[in-house]
Amino acid sequence: MASQASTAHDNINIAIDGPAGAGKSTIARMVASRLAYVYVDTGAMYRAATWYFLQRDIGSDNVEQIMHILPDLDIELLPGEQGQQVRVNGGDVTEDIRSLAVNAQVSRYAQIEGLRSRLVSLQRQMALRKGVVMDGRDIGTTVLPDAELKIFMTASVQERARRRYKEMKEQDEISFEDLVRSIAERDRLDQEREVSPLRQAEDAILLDTTDMSLDEVVDHIILLVQNLRK
Ligand code: DC
Repeated sequence: MASQASTAHDNINIAIDGPAGAGKSTIARMVASRLAYVYVDTGAMYRAATWYFLQRDIGSDNVEQIMHILPDLDIELLPGEQGQQVRVNGGDVTEDIRSLAVNAQVSRYAQIEGLRSRLVSLQRQMALRKGVVMDGRDIGTTVLPDAELKIFMTASVQERARRRYKEMKEQDEISFEDLVRSIAERDRLDQEREVSPLRQAEDAILLDTTDMSLDEVVDHIILLVQNLRK
C-alpha cells in the first residue's frame, strides 16, 4: 500500500480517546503506520506504573509511598517488532502489564493526581515534534488540547467486551459476563474520577465503531487527516 507519509513540516498530532476496548490502540497503531507517525499508548504507561507498584505491594490508597518512589520509576515505550515494547527500569513488561491483576487495579492508580501529572508531562514531551498518534482517556482534553485532530472513539459495552475477550490469553480465568461487568466498572471509574475524567473534548469527532471494521475506521481517520491538509 502506498504510504500517506508527507513531509515532516505538515505533521500533525492526533489524539484518540474513548472507553476501554473501543479499539483505540489497534486503530491508533494502524493510523500511525499508514502516516509513518509515532504511536504512543498512554494506557500502557498507567499499566506499567500499576505493575510496578503492585510488584512492590504498594496499594493505590498509599499515595504518600507512591509519590515517594515515583522518581525511581522509569517508563519507556519503544517501537518493537510486534508493536510497542514497554519497559520499566530497563526490564521488558510488555506482557505483564496486560494481566488480570493490572486490569483490575489500573483505574485506581490512574486516579492519583501526582502520578497523572508525571505521566502527562512525559506524554507532552513525546508529542513536541508532532507526527504523533496518542491514545488514552484525556489526550484531547488535557494532554494535547491543541492536537490538530481529536477523535472520541466508542462502541457498545457488549461489543467492547467481545473484542477484549477474543484477544485475552486468560479466557479460562474470567467469564464473558464478568468481563462485561469489569469493563463497565472501569468505564465508571474512568468517567467519575476527579482528575482528568474520561470525556469527549468539545472539538473532538465522535466515532462509534460498533458496526465498523478496523479498516473502515482507519480509512475514515486517514480521510479526516487528508481533509485537514487541504
Ligand atoms: O487503554 P488501557 O485500557 O490500556 O488503559 C488502562 C487504564 O489506564 C484505563 O482504565 C484508564 C487509565 N488511563 C488513563 O487514566 N488515562 C490515559 N490517558 C490512559 C489510560
